[in-house]
Parts: sequence; structure tokens; C-alpha cells
Amino acid sequence: MSSKKVSSRSWSLATRLTTWYTVASLLLAVFTMGSLYWWLAAYLTQREDRVLIERVQVLRAILRDRPQAILELRQEVDLNSPIHRRDDVQVYVRLLDEHGQPSLTTEGMDALLPPRAFTLVVPVDSQPSHVTDVQSLEGTSYRALAARASVGGSGEKTWLVQAARDREHHKLLLANYRRGLLMMLAITVIACPLVAYFLARRGLQPVREISDTARHIGSATLSARIEAAGYPVELGTLADTFNAMLDRLEDSFRRISQFSADIAHELRTPIHNLRGEAEVTLSRARSIDEYKEALTSCLEETVRLSDLIGRLLFLARAENPGTQLERENVNLTEELAAVREYYANAASEAGVALSTAAGGDVVVAVDRGLLRGAIANLVANSLTHTPPGGSITLAAQVDDGHARIEVCDTGTGIPTQDLPRVFDRFYRADRSRSSQPGNMGLGLAIVKGIVTLHGGQTAIESEVGKGTRVTLTFPMSARPQDRESRRAGPSDMMDHGRVVPIPNMTKK
Ligand SMILES: Nc1ncnc2c1ncn2[C@@H]1O[C@H](COP(=O)(O)OP(=O)(O)O)[C@@H](O)[C@H]1O
Ligand SMILES: [Mg+2]
Repeated sequence: MSSKKVSSRSWSLATRLTTWYTVASLLLAVFTMGSLYWWLAAYLTQREDRVLIERVQVLRAILRDRPQAILELRQEVDLNSPIHRRDDVQVYVRLLDEHGQPSLTTEGMDALLPPRAFTLVVPVDSQPSHVTDVQSLEGTSYRALAARASVGGSGEKTWLVQAARDREHHKLLLANYRRGLLMMLAITVIACPLVAYFLARRGLQPVREISDTARHIGSATLSARIEAAGYPVELGTLADTFNAMLDRLEDSFRRISQFSADIAHELRTPIHNLRGEAEVTLSRARSIDEYKEALTSCLEETVRLSDLIGRLLFLARAENPGTQLERENVNLTEELAAVREYYANAASEAGVALSTAAGGDVVVAVDRGLLRGAIANLVANSLTHTPPGGSITLAAQVDDGHARIEVCDTGTGIPTQDLPRVFDRFYRADRSRSSQPGNMGLGLAIVKGIVTLHGGQTAIESEVGKGTRVTLTFPMSARPQDRESRRAGPSDMMDHGRVVPIPNMTKK
């Protein structure tokens, strides 16, 4: 199943990151290299053209100002003489007179660029900026510029100045540069995916570690944790969340194991007793009275057993979120009074003052039977742990959209280290009482189950020697069901037909 899951997924994250990174880097490299190449080519052309334009301007100036200075003109045209040669670049100039006959020509120019090769001509009064590409008779390429020049400045006589410049040198340079760029691009094409894959693998290492840990987690290895030190923030948070989840799982798991062990332990004692009783009784012939006594004792054990099973069943039900509550509008003040009445005898026998605090009516939609069960459990606890002369107070009030029930006593209190666990199943702060029937350590767990079912919350404060206060908070927003409201009364304490585990105080 897991292999199917993996195969139905698309690419791995590392592959995606590699692909994106490679594509992005290549695009960037191509763009950068292309721009550099374009810029260089444009720069070189501009430089070539400037040389031609300057040359034409110089010749125009000489023709205009000193048309008689033939020597000067010749020097300007004789560009291949050592005075003019620079950079290995060939520049040619030709002067054509007013009849179109070549007057002065740089040596070797006619064999490459005859006068007709210059098609575009700049007029006398225009700036010579129209440099064009031309092909020589040999097939090599040149930049060329032709411009009319006024002789003597009168404008009646014009000569034609033709200038051309060899491009091969620059073409070679650009070709070399292009080759270099292509080589770098090829290296980039090969290196990018490798680097990207390496980086992606490295970056995703923590993710792999997290998934490795997750894969190996089982009930026996719930204590495994991810070492998040050195992880980047995002993955550190993920690892911390994951570790926190494991903490909770481990805790729940430990509680469940403990719970199973406790159940077995709690069941063993009554069953042992039953068995021992039966074996002893059957070991020889007995009188009717002896059999009666044995059966009575067996019955007590079975009551204890069914009580325990009832509570466990209730807890299982309370933990199932699908459990239906029979909500009705319940006046909490009246309910507290009913519970007080129910426990009045037990309290006066124990020498403890049991009272309800005066206050207005608090009405909230809850399951009446379950609510009574919860309050009864709290009062029973207080009675068990409050010495004669002490007092127990029950109070209900509305507070910030919530209904609050408080059960306070002036009893022995609970040690601070036990407080966080008293709501756990089978947890008893004072183990010495564990042998007492009815004190199975399930009372507060049941209270919490009932309150949680109602969407409420439980809290406990206690100080050793001073007393304990348990607070149940219910949201007021819940609506009652369409159901005929039952009248409250102490006889309702055992909900008809439903298992509502209430401590049996008459046994105390
Ligand atoms: N009002 C109280 N005063 C002192 N200790 C209490 C009080 N309520 C509960 N406890 C402690 O919390 C433990 C758990 O209570 P509970 O779940 O009702 O179990 P049980 O009453 O069966 O022992 C008790 O064993 C007791 O030690
Ligand atoms: Mg109890």
C-alpha cells in the first residue's frame, strides 16, 4: 500500500528543487552571457565607426579649408604608412573628384573595395553617421562610410570621400569570445544540476531524518526523538512539533498500559477472593448457615466487581465523542441542594458540615443524571478526606459565559506532586485507602469524563492540611434537547436504566 502511495506521488522534492534551480541558473547564465556578448559587439562596432567618422571629418575639413594641401591629403589617405598603422587594423580611404574619378586612394583599396561598393552617400551638409556593412571582393566584411565634401568651402565643387575599415579583426575577437561563452555555458549545464542536487540533498537531510525517525517509531520505540540541534528554523519547528506529538503519544501510551495493568490488578483481588471463598467452602461439608455466609461474602465481591465494570464501561462511554447527552435545562442551585440532601446523613455521621452557598439561580443545559453523578463523586471525595469538625461547601455561579460549580472542603488536601495526576484513572494520592471498597481511584476520572462530554473543563486546587477546591466549568451556550423535563429529586440519583457511577456512601 505504501509503495502504491509513493508511486502515485509526483517527483521528489529534491528532484523538483534541482530542476527549478537548474532551469533558473541556466536562464540567468544565458541572459548574462548573451547581454555581455551583445554589449561587446555593439561597443566594438561603435569604436570602428568612430574611427571612420573622424577620418571622413578630417578629410572634409582639409578639403574645405586647404584644398591645395595635396601633401597633407596624401598623408591622410596613405593610411598603411607606419604613422597611421595601429592595432593591426586596416583602414582605407579614397577621394573621388567632382567628375567621380579617383584622385587619391589608399594602396590596395581598389582590389578590395571599388568605388561602386559604396552605395550610401552622406550629403555635404550632413553629419557623416551612416556607416554600413559592405562585402569586399575577397568576401571579407568591412564597415564603410561615404560622404560628400565641399572643396574650398564655396559649395560649388564637391568631392566624394570614401572610407572603409576591416572588420575581420573584431569578428575574430567576437568569435573567440563566443567560443569562451559557449564553453562556460556547457560547464554550467553540467555543473548546475550536480550542484543543485547536492544542495537539495543537503538541505533536505533533516526531512529525511525526521521521516526515518517516524518510520521506526513503534509502541516499543516511542521514546525515540529527533535531534533538532542545527536544523534550519522551519525544520526545527517541524521537528519540535513532531517531538511534542511523540511526547503526547508516549504519555497516552504509558497511561493506557498503566490502565490495563490497573484493570487487571483491580479485577484480580475480587476474583481471588471469590475463588478462595468457594474453594474453602467446598473443601468439606458445610451447614446451611455456613453456605449462606459464604454466598453472602461472594455476593459482596460480585457487587464490587460489577461496580468496577460499571465504572469502566462509563469511562469508555465518556471517552467516545459520539456519546449522546440527554441535555435539559437544569437549575444548578437546585441540583446542589438535592445532592446536599442526599449526603446529609453521611455528613452528620462523619461530623462534617455540608452546605450550599447562597446565590441566584444558574440554569444550564446539561445531562441531569450525569451532572449529579459528577457532583456526588466530588462530595464523596470531600467526605472521605475531611476529618470531623470540617466543612464542605457547594456553590454554583455564572462567570463570563460559563456556569461554574465549586466543591470546597477543609480536608486533608492533596500533595502538590499528586495534583496533576488525580484525574487519571486508578490514581489514588493516598494508597493506604486503596483497600477500601469504592475507592478505586476512578471517581475524578469519571468526573472529568462527564465534564468533557459536556464540553466543559475541570480544575483542582489543593493545599495539604488546608483543603481542596474542585471547579467544574460548563459552557452556557449548549441548547437543551426536545424532551420532557424531569423533576429533580434525591430519588433520581441513580439514573433509570443508565450506568451513572455514583459512590455508594452507605457503605462507608
Ligand atoms: N477532596 C479531596 N481531598 C483530598 N484528597 C482528595 C480529594 N479528592 C480526591 N482526592 C485524592 O485524589 C485521589 C483520586 O480521587 P478519586 O479519583 O475520586 O479516587 P478515589 O476516591 O476512588 O480514591 C484520591 O485517592 C485522593 O487521594
Ligand atoms: Mg473518589
